[in-house]
Amino acid sequence: MRSLWLLAVLSLSLYAAEVVKVGDKFKDSGKCKACHSHIVKQWEDSWHSKSHYDNDEYFRKTIDYVARKNNRKSLNSIKIECAVCHNPRISVTSTSAEYEAIAALNLDKDTATAKALKSDTISEGINCVVCHNIDQIHDNLPDSKRGIHRVTWMKSGTMSGPYDDAKSPYHKVEPRDFMDNNPNQLCFVCHANDSSEEGHRFTNMQAEFANGGRACVDCHMGPRKDGVAATLRDVNGKVRKRLIREHGFEGAHTEQMWQGALKVDARKSGANLAVTLTNPQPHALPSGFGSREIVIDAQYYSGTKVLKSESLSLTSHYLTKRGKPTIPHLADKTVQNISIPALGSKTFTVPMTVGADQVVVVVSYRLVNDEVREILDLKDPIWSKKMVIKKLILKL
Ligand code: HEC
Ligand code: HEC
Ligand code: HEC
Ligand code: HEC
Ligand code: HEC
Repeated sequence: MRSLWLLAVLSLSLYAAEVVKVGDKFKDSGKCKACHSHIVKQWEDSWHSKSHYDNDEYFRKTIDYVARKNNRKSLNSIKIECAVCHNPRISVTSTSAEYEAIAALNLDKDTATAKALKSDTISEGINCVVCHNIDQIHDNLPDSKRGIHRVTWMKSGTMSGPYDDAKSPYHKVEPRDFMDNNPNQLCFVCHANDSSEEGHRFTNMQAEFANGGRACVDCHMGPRKDGVAATLRDVNGKVRKRLIREHGFEGAHTEQMWQGALKVDARKSGANLAVTLTNPQPHALPSGFGSREIVIDAQYYSGTKVLKSESLSLTSHYLTKRGKPTIPHLADKTVQNISIPALGSKTFTVPMTVGADQVVVVVSYRLVNDEVREILDLKDPIWSKKMVIKKLILKL
């Protein structure tokens, strides 16, 4: 029995992230432009392309804050931890006690770790050769092993894709089921769960997913439609028609995506206004990354005069071991998670104002709640912008 167990541990550790160098011909999206320029353009606008310390203020300031609050780990070690999902083509996947000792003395400039973090192989975040170089996804591993620790890579220069009859003069191709019939498997490599430095699991999108037949790609890459995968012409001067999807990965940062994302209903209920939010999506909202927020604003009128405004914040709050407010990545526990479950609904009450004859209810979404925005001192207006989900007017 014991040897069986040992064998299992051994074979699991054999899967520990294996780095495959990305050849210069493939490492950035610019190399794909000559034949896939339409795809490159869509991807450039996506937040996958911004997933790097230099390109996403929220990500950068979270890393800085975690490193500041942790005196056992250097900034670079935290960056390496986050790279597991945010920059999975990194060439160094863990740091040692020796590294920490050198980093503490600022003598780490020439180490493999420092060089890996500066490399232009990772500067594009989640780029083409993250998804299209995955060979296998190991769902037999424990569910905390994600990103780089859950996949094995193709040989550099082979692209995994949805078609089993594609040919390209620039690269080899291999069809994979997770690019075609089973795409959630690909998304769940990273969008599954994440835990804080204290080991607290602050998000679990995979566990809350209600599989109603629609895949992540159906909504976040749009339905399959007629188009071309490559603009390269064949010997007869023709391009090949294909069924393709968009590469914009539109989500929480895209204002239009929020319009109608929840159904909103409001009615009088005694001395209160009852606002019911119904979520038709197969995952909770807010979901995914912690500290997102839904805001219910109710403005009471008498004629054209505003009598009173009420506001209700639906978000999660995180506490340290000592019970102080903190960010998800340093949390010991989550309090007050009030997101709307997948395919479910919740009713919230807002106090009514005496003498009002009309109320305007606006339900909106914010990427970061006040608490975390203040802790991290986030400056870009995108983090506090209210993106409207639904506005309705109720005569009282
Ligand atoms: C987050 C993962 C991901 C990233 C990043 C990504 N792709 Fe894709 N790509 C997919 C998936 C999934 C499909 C299959 C879509 C479907 O169901 O047909 C796909 C399909 C394709 C196809 C087939 C045609 C199509 O559009 O469906 C090509 C070509 C392609 N990708 C090229 C690229 C290039 C070039 C980049 C970088 C600019 C890129 N991809 C980035 C996931 C990704
Ligand atoms: C010289 C042109 C050219 C360049 C450059 C090029 N490709 Fe392609 N690629 C093609 C052609 C042609 C196809 C086949 C299209 C078809 O069959 O409809 C293709 C197919 C693909 C597919 C789908 C494979 C499948 O089996 O489904 C992916 C994914 C892909 N390319 C990714 C990339 C990435 C990533 C880059 C940049 C690193 C890149 N390509 C650069 C020409 C090119
Ligand atoms: C290698 C890890 C990884 C994989 C695989 C991956 N993602 Fe992501 N995705 C991320 C990270 C990290 C972010 C956050 C980037 C940021 O905001 O800087 C993200 C962000 C997103 C967003 C949010 C965009 C926004 O505006 O809020 C959507 C939607 C998304 N991914 C969809 C998908 C889908 C669909 C798939 C599967 C086809 C997929 N992702 C595969 C890591 C991944
Ligand atoms: C039926 C359509 C649908 C499907 C299927 C779907 N989503 Fe979403 N998702 C939405 C809508 C609508 C929103 C809210 C608006 C937005 O952020 O795009 C959303 C929001 C998100 C967000 C931001 C959540 C937040 O509160 O900040 C992420 C991340 C995301 N989806 C990832 C995924 C992943 C990963 C899958 C597959 C496991 C998936 N989605 C499946 C429709 C869908
Ligand atoms: C298990 C994979 C995984 C790991 C490890 C991971 N992340 Fe993420 N992270 C994601 C995914 C997936 C998203 C996008 C989800 C969403 O938008 O809801 C994301 C989103 C974020 C966001 C929100 C970005 C935005 O633009 O809104 C921040 C901030 C963030 N991560 C910080 C970190 C930090 C700091 C670390 C390391 C301490 C880290 N992450 C490690 C998967 C991961």
